[in-house]
Amino acid sequence: MKRCVKMFDKDFLWGGATAANQYEGGWQEGKKGISTADCCTRGSKTEPRKVTYKTKDGNIKADNLFGMEINDDVEFGCFEGYDYPSHRASDFYNHYKEDIALMAEMGFKCYRMSIAWTRIFPNGDEEEPNEEGLKFYDQIFDECLKYGIKPLVTLSHYETPVGLVNKWGSWSDSRTIDCFLRYVKSVGERYKDKVEYWLTFNEINCIDFSGWVAAGIPNQNSQTIADAAKNQLIASAKSVITLHNINPNNKVGNMIGYGIKYPNTCHPNDILKTWEEANEDYFYCDVQARGYYPRYKLKEYERNGVVFSLNDKEKEILKSGTVDFISFSYYMSNCISADPKVAPNQSGNMSFGVKNPYLKASAWGWQIDPKGLRIALNYLYDRYQKPLMVVENGLGAQDEVDENNKIHDTYRIDYLRDHILAMEEAVRIDGVELWGYTSWGCIDLVSASTGEMHKRYGFVYVNYQDDCSGNGERIRKDSFYWYKKVISSQGRDLK
Ligand code: BG6
Repeated sequence: MKRCVKMFDKDFLWGGATAANQYEGGWQEGKKGISTADCCTRGSKTEPRKVTYKTKDGNIKADNLFGMEINDDVEFGCFEGYDYPSHRASDFYNHYKEDIALMAEMGFKCYRMSIAWTRIFPNGDEEEPNEEGLKFYDQIFDECLKYGIKPLVTLSHYETPVGLVNKWGSWSDSRTIDCFLRYVKSVGERYKDKVEYWLTFNEINCIDFSGWVAAGIPNQNSQTIADAAKNQLIASAKSVITLHNINPNNKVGNMIGYGIKYPNTCHPNDILKTWEEANEDYFYCDVQARGYYPRYKLKEYERNGVVFSLNDKEKEILKSGTVDFISFSYYMSNCISADPKVAPNQSGNMSFGVKNPYLKASAWGWQIDPKGLRIALNYLYDRYQKPLMVVENGLGAQDEVDENNKIHDTYRIDYLRDHILAMEEAVRIDGVELWGYTSWGCIDLVSASTGEMHKRYGFVYVNYQDDCSGNGERIRKDSFYWYKKVISSQGRDLK
């Protein structure tokens, strides 16, 4: 399928994305501290991931990662007898040269990765950064730059120092803002000549689904969620201001999980409900892109008895710390019904809804909807008129290595091709301003929702298995060669 139309411009940032807690491993190397992700056990499609902790009377317990409701004073941590996949993950810590060389071989222009806050401030509240942690990322960035790959750095991707959780409830307490800013200043200054693209919080709207994953809070109490959201939004705005002060060329974006929501029917009740649910995602983006709390959120807080206020200084911070671009993850779409008789029967990791009869789903039940990506790009561009980046997209699938050590992942190629075509249409036909595309888990990594290794997204297979076996060997999949061709043809050759 050779296409003659102008697709993506030559500066388009083609690449891939990972997150430290799912990919890096080396959880105790270089004086790294323990993060919230390090306390999450491995799960499966049927067995939920759990978070481990010690109660006041010394018992070790584990509660489900999603829907956790711990309100007692407990101590979160890692304990013997549990399997924690983040501890080794894909062992990028020891494989980074090989992995970045593979990214370079595919022609990556950009590599989205996250810094583990606990490598730089192991407990979260230290006065000085950990030099060993800083050196580790120096090596990563130098290796990327050697190949002309621009790092796109997420400051917080689903991990908070457990030290801050045990000390004062992490993001539910506004003291975490200063700790985070100390970290942002340290990495911003240290890497000012190496990193130009930054994201503040990964899928910040995930606080609404899992307070633990996104903000290190062990319950879904609406007051705590509102407090944590406010603290992260202020921290995000302050990070934008800080990074701009350090280097005016810095481009700082936000990041939301964005699954398009369709009304299940044309009944006005479904339309209204869909609008309400979409606002749950837009809320975070509205604040980060526009610089103020939207009226619908303030009214919702009022209705639900959530205590909320912003002083003049906080209002000013939100206003001056708006992002330069909007980034988002896109995997799937959902239908929304207001009818109590229509039960939700379909979900992704952070979105729930009703099955769409027009769509197929992945083996993990995520509905595949490339056209939804074109719609998503248009919705976001119309709403904010800021440049966009798709920083996560991909198919989680079980790959088989054949007797010749090959992986024929045509299903992944099909998924990615259709989504790239949808982006191309959004750019060419609709005129959306799109800066880049970093597909998720470009080298296999641990799944965030299930903790499995065999839910794979990568162009490169990593030989680690869920039973902890495997030698960590990297194997190029068929999609590796395909993506290489896509990038070298600037998205023109998708066959
Ligand atoms: C996004 C997260 O929600 O989806 C990633 O930002 C995550 O961290 C990705 O890995 C895919 O989800 P999962 O649950 O399949 O790993």
